[in-house]
Amino acid sequence: MEKTIKSVQDLYDMLDADFRSAKHFWEPFYENRDRPIPFFPNKPDENLVAGMEKGLLRGGRALEMGCGPGRNALYLARQGYQVEAYDLSETAIAWAKERAAEEQLDVHFECRSVFELTPEQEYDLVYDSGCLHHLLPHQRIPYIAMIDQALKPGGYFGLTCFAPGFGDQGGPEHVMDDWEVYREKSMRGGLAFTEEKLRYLLEDTFECVELRPMKAMGQNDAYFGLPILWAALWRKPEARDGHILV
Ligand SMILES: C[S@@+](CC[C@H](N)C(=O)[O-])C[C@H]1O[C@@H](n2cnc3c(N)ncnc32)[C@H](O)[C@@H]1O
Repeated sequence: MEKTIKSVQDLYDMLDADFRSAKHFWEPFYENRDRPIPFFPNKPDENLVAGMEKGLLRGGRALEMGCGPGRNALYLARQGYQVEAYDLSETAIAWAKERAAEEQLDVHFECRSVFELTPEQEYDLVYDSGCLHHLLPHQRIPYIAMIDQALKPGGYFGLTCFAPGFGDQGGPEHVMDDWEVYREKSMRGGLAFTEEKLRYLLEDTFECVELRPMKAMGQNDAYFGLPILWAALWRKPEARDGHILV
């Protein structure tokens, strides 16, 4: 029955209804590939490369959330991961598939909302570069639960998201408190997180392996890096409350 709140999903739907559709925003975003968008070039995140080089990330199955044109998924495939990568934008997925074909890389790219995924403790790595900070605060609840559900015990969750204080460099200047988002009916282009807020949101579910500012990388560097972003790596514990997670 329309506009009747019976379930938590009904509540989420009511909260979503006050905001612009993410799909309508992201679909045309990738139409002009020549725009100087920092994450358009086909370069992986410097922190993802560092995780591989340190031997923390060792291959297996990877799931990327909000993959855009696929630069990190493609890197993971080059490193031997079996990769599934999802994005809301058909245009971004078409671009990602072209890139994969050019390199003859086998990546499962699909246009689908991450909220439609129902994984079952099957991934060694879940990666999110810039998706979480575009989700509404209430959407984090199913999102984090789904990432937890996606990972094998001991699996890793890599994340980059906005840090505050970079209004002059194209990032958010301030951290909005979550209630403010609903009062303004806007995320002002993406939410910034303090280190404390990120830890508060994620530390009940994951162990923090690393949380640091992303390193600045230049146009001629082989990797992507902007200090307006946090670079974080989390790990799903092997056991919770004395119970081994299997
Ligand atoms: C800032 S872009 C980052 C793209 C890519 N991760 C990169 O770094 O190159 C954020 C991406 O998240 C995607 N996105 C946002 N909400 C999503 C959702 N609910 N399901 C799937 N993708 C989503 C958008 O379509 C967009 O491509």
